[in-house]
Amino acid sequence: MTAHGTGRRNAITKLLKGAVAGGTVTVTGWVKTSRFGKNVSFVHLYDGSSTHTVQVVLTPEQAEANKARLGVGAAVQVTGTWSASQGGEQAFEVQATDVQIVGDCDPESFPIQKKATSLENLRTIAHLRPRTNTFQSTFRVRNAVSWHIHRFFQERGFQWVHTPIITTNDAEGAGELFEVKVGDEPFFGKKTFLTCSGQLAVENFVQAFTDVYTFGPTFRAEHSHTARHAAEFWMIEPEIAFANLDDVIALAEDFIKDVCLSTIAQCPDDFEFFDKRIEPGNLARVKEALSKPFARVTWHEAVEILSNVKGRTWEFPVGPGMSLQSEHERYLAEDHFKGPVFVTNYPSVQKAFYMREDDNGETVSATDLLVPGIGEIIGGSQREERLDVLERRIKQFGLPVEEYWWYLDLRRFGTTPHGGFGLGLERLIMWLTGMKNIRDVLPYPRTPGSAEF
Ligand code: 4AD
Ligand code: MG
Repeated sequence: MTAHGTGRRNAITKLLKGAVAGGTVTVTGWVKTSRFGKNVSFVHLYDGSSTHTVQVVLTPEQAEANKARLGVGAAVQVTGTWSASQGGEQAFEVQATDVQIVGDCDPESFPIQKKATSLENLRTIAHLRPRTNTFQSTFRVRNAVSWHIHRFFQERGFQWVHTPIITTNDAEGAGELFEVKVGDEPFFGKKTFLTCSGQLAVENFVQAFTDVYTFGPTFRAEHSHTARHAAEFWMIEPEIAFANLDDVIALAEDFIKDVCLSTIAQCPDDFEFFDKRIEPGNLARVKEALSKPFARVTWHEAVEILSNVKGRTWEFPVGPGMSLQSEHERYLAEDHFKGPVFVTNYPSVQKAFYMREDDNGETVSATDLLVPGIGEIIGGSQREERLDVLERRIKQFGLPVEEYWWYLDLRRFGTTPHGGFGLGLERLIMWLTGMKNIRDVLPYPRTPGSAEF
């Protein structure tokens, strides 16, 4: 195929940005629409590089020869002259000199048609939905977010650590693990699981590299049937040494702002699409939120705010000792603070064993970042760096101390105050784009009872 070789020389985005008029170009892509007329026929091709299609103009002879095979979805390669276009929709078009059908697509049975269909329907054909406008934009944004996450950390000297997917411990101590087995034998001579977080493994590295992060898939066997929970999702977990909770929060805020603004700048057409078709007004709200300092409250203050809300009935009761449910998180972010808010210093009984106990013995130096429309997108903390306190907490949580021998070693050999956070990649994408269901921002969603493809 001539269009490839060392790269996508004539990718549609590049063509539209600056091909020289009168030059010969070769375009590969799939038919988005085709229109056949007596004198002139048009085919619009997309190749995934942007929201734009390129218009190909066919002569009556070319149209006649290929008409039956140029329906929506067909894969084609066109060579022609890059010419000023008569139509108002585009400045340039390809006047075809050669048209090749690379892969046929039967219009009768191809499930992706021009007519809009529901996102629910498209989930049943997740292998084909990347060919729709919505999923083209979603997965381009997912790619851009991921790229900027790496760029953000790499520019700041963080080391990317590949923490294991198969693990021996429950990093969150929440008992929501998928066990890894081959037949009845534990393959590794002991119980192993799909990781629910790379945090404990990345902590070993932070005590040697100062600034690290892990970014990869994580797994939770939790029976949460919501639009924000998946059994397999991607998490970004930075960890910093010689640092306290304030440092963790400052990093999280810088990180979210940089990654979001850079992604919006990289994908303007995709965000225009989301703003028109998915959630009008979302982009302005996101930009507004990113332009201001994020709010910050303690869990105690948050409970007080919620307790003072008049004329609202909660599904889960509000008051001392409450745990913040999604409805409370959303109230705080959407109605009270009207933007992202860090909630800090949760009761220790509500949070994981590794979080640093505050001097009062009741709360921990933890934080969740809540955003409008979603609720929690980040969970993080300063870690318990004191050996005796950590040992006591592991026992209090009813976890097997011996399993955490290596984690405790970190507190024996050059321990430091340190901390970090975990960001749910999908939830960030949902907040940015306005997509409402986590199943629609994951290439292959896995949720309780569902793992097709
Ligand atoms: O709050 P979580 O459980 O925190 C941790 O796992 C820590 N080890 C992170 C750290 O401090 N290094 O999860 C972090 C984030 C949540 O805020 C949420 O955005 C996302 O991961 N998340 C999920 N996303 C989709 N589906 C699920 N089932 C999720 N569970 C957590
Ligand atoms: Mg959490």
